[in-house]
Amino acid sequence: MTSSENEWGSNLAFILAMIGSAVGLGNIWRYPYVIYSNGGGAFLIPYLIAILVMAIPFLILEYGVGYNYKSSFTKAVIKLNPKLEFYGWILPVVVFILTIYYSTIIGWDGIYFVLSFVKGWGSDPNTFLSNTVLQSSDSINGIFNFLPVVAISMFVGWFFIWIVSHKKLDEGLGRISRIFVPILFITMAIIVIFSLTLPGASIGLAELFAPDLSLLWHFDIWMAAFGQIFFSLSLGLGAGFTYASYTKKDIDLITSGLYVIIANCAFENFAAVGVFSILGYMSLQSGTPVADLVSGGTTLIFVVYPQIFNVLGVLAFILGPLFFFTVYVAGITSMLSSFEVLSISLQNKFDLSRKKATTILFIIGSLASMIYATSSGEYILAIADSFVNNIVVVFSVIIECILFAWVFKAEKLVKFLNDRSHSLKLGKWWLILVKYIIPILLLVIWIGGLNEILSEANFEFLAILAILFAILFILSFIFAVIKPKSENWYKTEERIK
Ligand code: PHE
Repeated sequence: MTSSENEWGSNLAFILAMIGSAVGLGNIWRYPYVIYSNGGGAFLIPYLIAILVMAIPFLILEYGVGYNYKSSFTKAVIKLNPKLEFYGWILPVVVFILTIYYSTIIGWDGIYFVLSFVKGWGSDPNTFLSNTVLQSSDSINGIFNFLPVVAISMFVGWFFIWIVSHKKLDEGLGRISRIFVPILFITMAIIVIFSLTLPGASIGLAELFAPDLSLLWHFDIWMAAFGQIFFSLSLGLGAGFTYASYTKKDIDLITSGLYVIIANCAFENFAAVGVFSILGYMSLQSGTPVADLVSGGTTLIFVVYPQIFNVLGVLAFILGPLFFFTVYVAGITSMLSSFEVLSISLQNKFDLSRKKATTILFIIGSLASMIYATSSGEYILAIADSFVNNIVVVFSVIIECILFAWVFKAEKLVKFLNDRSHSLKLGKWWLILVKYIIPILLLVIWIGGLNEILSEANFEFLAILAILFAILFILSFIFAVIKPKSENWYKTEERIK
């Protein structure tokens, strides 16, 4: 493996790729709904606190340690403690599980991109989505009903991932980020500015930001804020770690991290403003209150948007494709980063070239993702999402805090990061946050979340959860016990002395 195969051409490429990773489906389909259903304007309080207390300090820690080891997450964990190799594989494997279901939503979006040119969803987008596109069954029974159109669309997304990631880092991922991330912001700006000019936009915005302060006393809204920030910023999932490990010497990681956080959070709040302006317009047209038009996650973009485009007339033929294209690009640039995490661990351990590792993962990932191209796809996806985000990742970040802040010693990073920083300087406050406050806070959130999930779970849900755990543990175990091909597997240099 040559070093140029895995190094950014410039620091800007790193920042753009990281923004590409952060800005994704979470910002467009998840955030508008999350803020609305968690107290509107009041949600911004826990949201800002989550950014200040957790996102900024943890992102800096993740970048710093990734930079230091200039290697995969797994290899860094082994260097910290060789007995922890099994855990070192858990995170990359779980992120690969995320990649697989993430590809499904990108696949759905691909279908809607094509449909948007002719408003192919007809006059009842809700029925169209569940009966025609997904043929949804809300149990495991639909697993043998294969959906070829969804499968093809998903495969196209996977193919695109392979095309980009099998090339040398800067020629593939670097170039795509330099082109697509600016495009993403431009198309989103066009959509938002247009939405704001619609009659009724202010009705939607008033509804969105109407602060329901009483909700601040509920545990849920805090959990929702921390969960959103995690997913949206790709925190603790190894993406930031991996991308930072590809940076050149002397990068200002603190300022880069702040840019990523600002860009991501601005993007998702603009997206929410756009969505709710359009909902306000629709509410004015149809006389239906905004509250009745909003729905959760997936359906918001595949049901509400088509409904909007239906009432928009000819303009929808421009705005529709533009919107689904924006979602597509946002999704692909995020999936590229989650795909990267397991890929680089395999490259390191088995001495595989980038080309070989990405090709193997492309084949395995695209085949495994076919489970979602069935009538049970949407149902399993929701469980997999909960498994990854509420159960494994939060817990994994607690371990990361212990490993990075305590075992590695976050103190070692302070001087290095501060010397290069043109903005924020780290002080004692940072060490207190990453060593004590973040892990304790996350433990509380993790227990609270687990409690909630288990109290609502039925047998089938638990069975699927158990299967996911089995897959995660077995794969991680196999990767951990196979003998390394690379002589350097147990030898990792450190860049920060
Ligand atoms: N941040 C991405 C989003 O908002 C999701 C993601 C998580 C991507 C982890 C890569 C790694 O959609």
